[in-house]
Amino acid sequence: MNTDIDTVELDTPLQEIATEETVVPRTVSTAPLNTHQQHWQDTLQISRNMAATSAPFLVSGRLTKVNGLVMEAVGLRVAVGSTCIIQLPNNNVEAEVVGFSGEKLFLMPENDVHGLVPGARVVPLEAAAGQNTSPEMARHLPVGEMLLGRVLDGAGRPLDQFGPLSEGPSAPLQSKPINPLDRAPINEALDVGVRAINALLTVGRGQRMGLFAGSGVGKSVLLGMMARYTTADVIVVGLIGERGREVKEFITDILGKEGLARAVVVAAPADTSPLLRMQGAAYATTIAEYFRDQGKNVLLIMDSLTRYAMAQREIALAIGEPPATKGYPPSVFAKLPQLVERAGNGTEGGGSITAFYTVLTEGDDQQDPIADSARAILDGHIVLSRRLVEQGHYPAIDIEASISRAMNHLVSEQHYLQVQRFRQLYAHYQRNHDLISVGAYVHGSDPLLDEAILMHPRQEHFLKQGMYEADHYTTSMSAFSALFEPRS
Ligand SMILES: Nc1ncnc2c1ncn2[C@@H]1O[C@H](COP(=O)(O)OP(=O)(O)OP(=O)(O)O)[C@@H](O)[C@H]1O
Ligand SMILES: [Mg+2]
Repeated sequence: MNTDIDTVELDTPLQEIATEETVVPRTVSTAPLNTHQQHWQDTLQISRNMAATSAPFLVSGRLTKVNGLVMEAVGLRVAVGSTCIIQLPNNNVEAEVVGFSGEKLFLMPENDVHGLVPGARVVPLEAAAGQNTSPEMARHLPVGEMLLGRVLDGAGRPLDQFGPLSEGPSAPLQSKPINPLDRAPINEALDVGVRAINALLTVGRGQRMGLFAGSGVGKSVLLGMMARYTTADVIVVGLIGERGREVKEFITDILGKEGLARAVVVAAPADTSPLLRMQGAAYATTIAEYFRDQGKNVLLIMDSLTRYAMAQREIALAIGEPPATKGYPPSVFAKLPQLVERAGNGTEGGGSITAFYTVLTEGDDQQDPIADSARAILDGHIVLSRRLVEQGHYPAIDIEASISRAMNHLVSEQHYLQVQRFRQLYAHYQRNHDLISVGAYVHGSDPLLDEAILMHPRQEHFLKQGMYEADHYTTSMSAFSALFEPRS
């Protein structure tokens, strides 16, 4: 090759196309080109034009298997948690990557899918949208003030009659964990509007409580009372895996207009895909985090944590994870604390998320692995009892079985001692209830029981509360201390 040549200015650095025999001059001149050079220039220009007008290379895979809820695809290398589009002859379907095995990706659709065909093209969502985003970037859902008073599904789409959401911020479904040492401590009580909880199971701002109960014992009504009467600034309700009918009932009858005005409801009922149910719980938490980061005190209500665990069980079993404890695969027990840990206080001086998670304990099964696991990761539990429901005692809070682990930091020492006294007398009465009711107890033989019998009607009266009756923190506390004042 002739190296002693006149050269022209090129867009592409000549070093890139230089071969071993070529010596590339650093300075270029504008002298006319020889035929050989002209040929190279023309070829280069044609190649540049072709590259500029061609569509970007779209990586795609193929659907190879559908097995119940899970689809398998090959030919793609995308992260777990990414969204893919499955291109079908008549429509496109969105699915999330939930796992992989060797070259195979496991995908799950967000909604019901019809018309899947073998070999259908699978394209990562970011590539299909022409964006170069990470999977986390692709999963942004709306958050912000415009959500107040709205009912949304697990994917952030409105379910109510108020039309599309107005423009506002969005946030990823997963958030970075807060350094536990940076979190503000729980040292201020939150008024939940329910007397028995305010006085005997005081809940602090940023505390995470479990509401353990079987079916039909008043969980929804109690959560609704808290949502309506709490002094929290914002209420975020996640209705996960419950019956569809219950969603409407909760919103119209239990939450009501006043409750809904400062609430956001995320509903992913039982008939939605397990993925959407999981996402619904994560989304409700994301919304709560947004308000917390704005300095607000948020009450997050999640009904139910058990259904969330069941959704994860469906997914994990479908992709082949072996069941471990009572049919629940190990990933379920990893997902629960991940969700629950997102609630709590923010950094010092910021907002808070006080959370109530319902846990189903059918037939008083204390061995239920989800109930067991939840008890360990939550800062307290309120147990609703069927025995009390049968006696017409509402809210059916079993004071003996319930505990708030943060309470001693929230109330005065005197109040704390009185609570212990209340519990002692109440428990003593319950233990001797049969004896008393058949008239076998002789007054004077047990001074503690005498006091318990005297106190019992007042205790019962104190613990009962109608569903449309609010009782605020200060009145709950003064009514409680009045129980211990000497009677004239
Ligand atoms: N504070 C209350 N005062 C009077 N009645 C109540 C009270 N709380 C609950 N109830 C009664 O209990 C019934 C069942 O309550 P709720 O629907 O809240 O139960 P649940 O535990 O949510 O049931 P499910 O398991 O079906 O979701 C209500 O319809 C209501 O009649
Ligand atoms: Mg309910």
